[in-house]
Amino acid sequence: MWHENVLGTVGDTPLVRLGPLTAGLPCTVLAKVEFFNPGGSVKDRIGAYMIERAERAGDLEPGGTIVEGTSGNTGAGLAIAAIAKGYRCIFTTTDKQSQEKIDVLRALGAEVRVCPTNVDPDDPRSYYSTARRLAEELPNAVYLNQYDNPANTQAHVETTGPELWEQTDGKITHFIAGAGTGGTISGVSKYLKDQDEDVTVVGVDPKGSVYYDYFHTGEFDEDAIYPYFTEGVGEDILAENMEFDLVDDYVQISDTEAMQMTRRLARREGLFIGQSCGMAMAGALDWMQTRRDELTEDDVVVVLFPDSGFRYLSKTYNDEWMRAHDFLEPTPQVSVGDVLQMRREGRPVVAVEPEDTLGEAIGQMTDQSLSQLPVIDPSTAEVVGSLTEARILHLLIESPEHKSEPVHEAMGEPFPTVPRSMDLGLLSAYLEDESGAVLVEPKRAAGPSGDGGAQAGYDIITKSDLITALSRVDAGGNGR
Ligand SMILES: Cc1ncc(COP(=O)(O)O)c(C=O)c1O
Repeated sequence: MWHENVLGTVGDTPLVRLGPLTAGLPCTVLAKVEFFNPGGSVKDRIGAYMIERAERAGDLEPGGTIVEGTSGNTGAGLAIAAIAKGYRCIFTTTDKQSQEKIDVLRALGAEVRVCPTNVDPDDPRSYYSTARRLAEELPNAVYLNQYDNPANTQAHVETTGPELWEQTDGKITHFIAGAGTGGTISGVSKYLKDQDEDVTVVGVDPKGSVYYDYFHTGEFDEDAIYPYFTEGVGEDILAENMEFDLVDDYVQISDTEAMQMTRRLARREGLFIGQSCGMAMAGALDWMQTRRDELTEDDVVVVLFPDSGFRYLSKTYNDEWMRAHDFLEPTPQVSVGDVLQMRREGRPVVAVEPEDTLGEAIGQMTDQSLSQLPVIDPSTAEVVGSLTEARILHLLIESPEHKSEPVHEAMGEPFPTVPRSMDLGLLSAYLEDESGAVLVEPKRAAGPSGDGGAQAGYDIITKSDLITALSRVDAGGNGR
């Protein structure tokens, strides 16, 4: 089986389950990885669609010229389709785009005009105006205008949306993506909501773009617009393909968060992806963490990753560029398992049993200078509750008699149990807003401890363990 030309390899990109970065979330989180397209991005999907629409409308005749304003990826998608169909390409882009993207366009035989980023969209020097003017001046040329061209959205209605529905057997419940022209988010949303109106669609915007504010206020606020570094997403205009009524919520992410998450995805998940993927992931994690209590194990969340890390080797994956822009990760990239390893002498969990008295529990805490204790049922080795200094104080002030009560009457909710692979960022979120400790789930290989429930294979991490661990790692994430 073979394809007639490279266009046949566009689409049918894989869905990949995310691991460590989403550990602790109740739902399934999948990435739609678009760098598997032949031009390396989601934009390959719209190349042939927009060209064929122009052909049908009579705007493009054999041997004609395609003009487009592009941050790079649409250009690659169009250039590939233009080669297959015999057209010439001229692209305008901005001076903020990576050199790699411009080099790719030139490698694919396109002419590239680089325009200034920080000028008004209506300014004759802007890459929008330059593309329009070129298309008017050149014979048999068409400006495809991915911002307002409905073929852009339609490509996603007919390809990306159905792929997601089929790949998840109709189980997708949430779709989260960044938006530039809006073609991806609008097209996918249109298709998915047609299948199931309850699918939730969340947009992620870089700080400095107008979309986030426009979504929440309905007003185009020029003051909300300022330059940012994350490429391909967000706008200083309202593109017609951006259909806000197909989006249920919008979150906002800073350049720093986007760049750092991009690197984390490469290091922790083995996904060597572009900046807007890091931005979408950071937004997805923010959104899911604030709704941790509403999400269930039946939820299937898909985050779309538009392009490849190869396009950002001179930027996000270059330490000097990252340092120069103050984007380097201050928090080390370590997991719960690393924290336990750094503590070296594994500390067995001191726990009490539900039938112990509160007095005995207080004795344990004072003898061993502990601020909290998990309560573990010895018959099942399950964590059934917790005792904290604050809770004991509250009970003793109420009545000293509580000391003779069994622990199961006095205990509070169990400490959360987290996996060893959980990322430190998520762990600190637990320790910030939950009780003073978390339990780390037992290693799978470890058998029952045999000496009652007190250890039961769990480890415990307290706030002070986290502080010690953080103070011992260097900025590259390596334990000292
Ligand atoms: C890297 C990158 N991510 C995301 C997008 C956004 O996709 P859309 O224009 O379909 O909203 C683009 C669009 O150019 C892009 O280049």
